Amino acid sequence: MTTIDVVTSDQVDIDELIELYDSVGWSVYTRDVGTLRRALAGSSTLVIARDSAVLIGLARVVSDNATICYLQDVLVKPSHQGHGVGRALVQAALEPYATVRQKVLLTDNEPAQRRFYESLGYSEAAVAAGGPLRAFVRFD
Ligand SMILES: CC(C)(COP(=O)(O)OP(=O)(O)OC[C@H]1O[C@@H](n2cnc3c(N)ncnc32)[C@H](O)[C@@H]1OP(=O)(O)O)[C@@H](O)C(=O)NCCC(=O)NCCS
Repeated sequence: MTTIDVVTSDQVDIDELIELYDSVGWSVYTRDVGTLRRALAGSSTLVIARDSAVLIGLARVVSDNATICYLQDVLVKPSHQGHGVGRALVQAALEPYATVRQKVLLTDNEPAQRRFYESLGYSEAAVAAGGPLRAFVRFD
């Protein structure tokens, strides 16, 4: 049975986190466990999915709870993808931010990610409803 829960970072074991992130190939995170821990602890909302006891997915939000809601790190174990877990994680993660207008994210330039986020109501900044926007990013 799959469960979706809002949790705090100390409710998730670091070894199961590493296994989850590794399962989708996000080794940048798992090479620096301290940063991964701080990222989860500093998130505004952290949501996890479990199949029985096994961690199978995670989503988190960084927000000021008023004007901006940044969706970061949505991931589902490959063995459990395509069954609505990602959608359920995002819906639960965004629930506290229903009145926050600006919801943004960055993702890979792949058709699957585009379909996933479009199915959740996101659109590319260049074609956003209400007028096209320009999105900028800087990596240091
Ligand atoms: C992207 C990801 C989170 C989707 O999770 P998921 O549990 O498989 O997605 P869901 O089953 O909830 O799908 C929700 C919708 O997204 C779309 N979608 C999801 N995966 C898709 C794929 N591979 N190809 C096309 N559309 C896809 C579908 O439209 C689906 O809607 P449907 O029910 O009408 O078919 C998952 O594939 C994943 O963890 N990928 C690796 C990590 C990643 O790239 N994360 C996103 C970037 S931060």
